[in-house]
Amino acid sequence: MLDAIVKPNKTTPQYDYRETLVASQRINWQIEDIIGGDKKLDFSKPFMPESLARVEELSFLNPDEKRVLNQIKGNTYLAIFGLVEEFILPFVLDHVRPSLDEDDYRVRAFLQFAGEEAKHIQLFKRFSQEFRENFGSDCAVIGPPTEVAKAVLAHQPLAVALAILLIEWMSQRHFIEAIKDNRALDPQFKSLLRHHWMEEAQHAKLDTLMVEALADGMSEAELEKAVDEFLEIGGFLDEGMKQQTIFDLEAFERATGRKLSAEEREEFLAKQHQANRWTYLGTGMTHPNFRATVGALSTVQLKRIEEVAPVFC
Ligand SMILES: [Fe+2]
Ligand SMILES: [Fe+2]
Repeated sequence: MLDAIVKPNKTTPQYDYRETLVASQRINWQIEDIIGGDKKLDFSKPFMPESLARVEELSFLNPDEKRVLNQIKGNTYLAIFGLVEEFILPFVLDHVRPSLDEDDYRVRAFLQFAGEEAKHIQLFKRFSQEFRENFGSDCAVIGPPTEVAKAVLAHQPLAVALAILLIEWMSQRHFIEAIKDNRALDPQFKSLLRHHWMEEAQHAKLDTLMVEALADGMSEAELEKAVDEFLEIGGFLDEGMKQQTIFDLEAFERATGRKLSAEEREEFLAKQHQANRWTYLGTGMTHPNFRATVGALSTVQLKRIEEVAPVFC
């Protein structure tokens, strides 16, 4: 439950609700532009960049097996983003709901944000369906999203907003650093990631404004409590990553028919869990803009986050 009536923060000149809204309206793609008809996934190509998938580290896999695992990781990416966006959507709506009469551009920017996340949830489901129909075997994913959302939203608003800020910057970094200039990836999957990145750029800015508004006037002790809860959310998501790694191993064995030895399993689970940690937590936690926002609230709290970050890299 959100208990604070959040007022727009007057001390945050770097981002602007009106500019964000205008940028969003200019982009505004449709799901049909990206998937369906002759726009299909090409299973002869990898879906994920190696810096996130980290399948090359598993030297006991042959090239075909690495590609299959990479594609399983692509399906996992759809599931994880679908999952987190299912708690982002109600959180954004709750954030704007108590103050609909204060700033028209702010209201419209947040409603646009919520509408885009609802569209992204549907987009990820559509790609997951396409994957399921053509991959050839089952891939389990963690969830259900409603239960994950319930657990995350049980935390205080600033902790949740920080987790969301981390996720939004994460998606920006994934595209810019690993996907944008990558010519090896399946064009359809790359198109999904590019379109998502375009709209997430505005979300990252709105999340920054949301964090600043929620933290406005908080004491160091209150900020510390919020960061405690933010780290709890991180720990909860990391447990999910661990479980997802087991699911990915099972999916890999099902898809390839190969049974890994005990040592191979151990190496797979350790390296792939770390890959998931980096993809879904570390890339956001160490993002310069995420760090800058936390650092502006409190250098002490930034230091706490910096101390745990190496675990997720
Ligand atoms: Fe999204
Ligand atoms: Fe988003």
